[in-house]
Amino acid sequence: MESTAATTPLPLDIPLPLPADPILLQALLVVLFLWHILFVNLMVGGSLLTVVFELIGRRRPEFDALARATAGTVTVNKSLAVVLGVGPLLGLNVLYTVHFYSANALTGAAWISLVPLVTLAFLVTYAHKYSWDRLAGRKGLHLAIGMAGAAMFLAIPLIFLANINLMLFPARWLEVRGFASALALPNVWPRYLHFLAASVAVTGLFLLVYFLRPGGGVAASPSALDRLALRRLFYGIALGASALQLMFGPLVLITLPRPGLSWFLAGVIGVGVVLAIFALVLMWREIAAPRANATPRAAIVVALITATAFTMGYGRHVYRETALRDHRAQMAVHTRDTGWLAAAAQWREATGQGVAQVPLGQRIFESTCAACHGVDRVLVGPSLREIAGIYGGDPGGIAAWAADPGRKRPELPPMPAFRLGEEKLRAVADYMLQLGSGGSPAEDG
Ligand code: HEC
Repeated sequence: MESTAATTPLPLDIPLPLPADPILLQALLVVLFLWHILFVNLMVGGSLLTVVFELIGRRRPEFDALARATAGTVTVNKSLAVVLGVGPLLGLNVLYTVHFYSANALTGAAWISLVPLVTLAFLVTYAHKYSWDRLAGRKGLHLAIGMAGAAMFLAIPLIFLANINLMLFPARWLEVRGFASALALPNVWPRYLHFLAASVAVTGLFLLVYFLRPGGGVAASPSALDRLALRRLFYGIALGASALQLMFGPLVLITLPRPGLSWFLAGVIGVGVVLAIFALVLMWREIAAPRANATPRAAIVVALITATAFTMGYGRHVYRETALRDHRAQMAVHTRDTGWLAAAAQWREATGQGVAQVPLGQRIFESTCAACHGVDRVLVGPSLREIAGIYGGDPGGIAAWAADPGRKRPELPPMPAFRLGEEKLRAVADYMLQLGSGGSPAEDG
């Protein structure tokens, strides 16, 4: 058996300096991500609750009014979610470039479909919101439009999540064939359920604060439901969904691949859980024995949940950094070695110095092929062992392939052609066969 390390693709890193201190960039990413995900939660949770309220509203008209008022918040929150998504996307691009783009490429079609999907979801949500009166007599159709919008809002985060998850596990990249198989990686579904529960919980709290805010409160609360009933309803939603999160949370942890786990992470998450439990107790008391003045307790609940979100968001980042640490270190070594090899080979070529000592095949290999072909492992292309297995005794076959590469391995990118001339290609082919069959002590990075 080959070790997994031998089949973990090792792309070259992009040796550009970061535009700012990495700690600053990481802190920005965590904060901007949370800011973005807050509105994503409100968009997803809001569109789900709108549909549920509207369904209940078929029997109890006061819920139809509530659904309509909730729908009014979704379109606003969705716009904020999109605009605030730019920050974390840029952060990911800068900090995790190679990993992020590899995951994007591997789920290509689904990833690209986000653009039309998001557009369509917005149009459908607006159609739903603005056809409330016109379709009053055709509630079934109106509900169907609402459900279509909600279904799209459910699909969009799943695509994002599958990608962000896939990026963490380069050891699995060669198995992945598009979005559907990225969904089969561990952790995707527990994380998704956890996210959905968070969306509903956060939206419950938001609606509580938004509809029942002091002053404009009752005017905004649209229905025959009185303030107390609304308070119980929203706290009930937030409490129930938070309890679900506490159930899904351990599942997320259990299904996380080992390499990223640490006691530090457990500590961070533990703090988040304790804060969340305090919030749950307060919500429960607010439902069981509501206070006359709801504001102070609601403020404490919101503060506790916010603090929970920060610890969890930080924990998420800690996990990502730990999970990627080894692979990044190997990439850095490979990038550095390849750079050295290529620079040395080019220098020898340009100056003619030392050329006599270094055989032509080795020079070509180091300057032209080594970035993608390692001796024992997949870097970007197959290992020299594998190549020697295919072309043992047939260097001409390698030369022919390099001049005009075919397409064999769907899990790897296509190889560019190298028309270096017969002499050089034969020399590099001989050298590769020699290395690949263990004929040289030369070390591979
Ligand atoms: C940019 C990356 C890259 C570089 C540089 C590169 N290769 Fe490749 N090579 C690949 C990839 C990817 C494949 C697998 C393509 C496939 O199977 O569809 C491959 C496959 C091969 C194969 C296997 C063909 C087979 O029949 O299975 C040979 C031989 C090969 N490369 C030779 C070379 C030589 C010689 C050079 C240098 C002159 C070179 N490669 C440079 C990426 C690269």
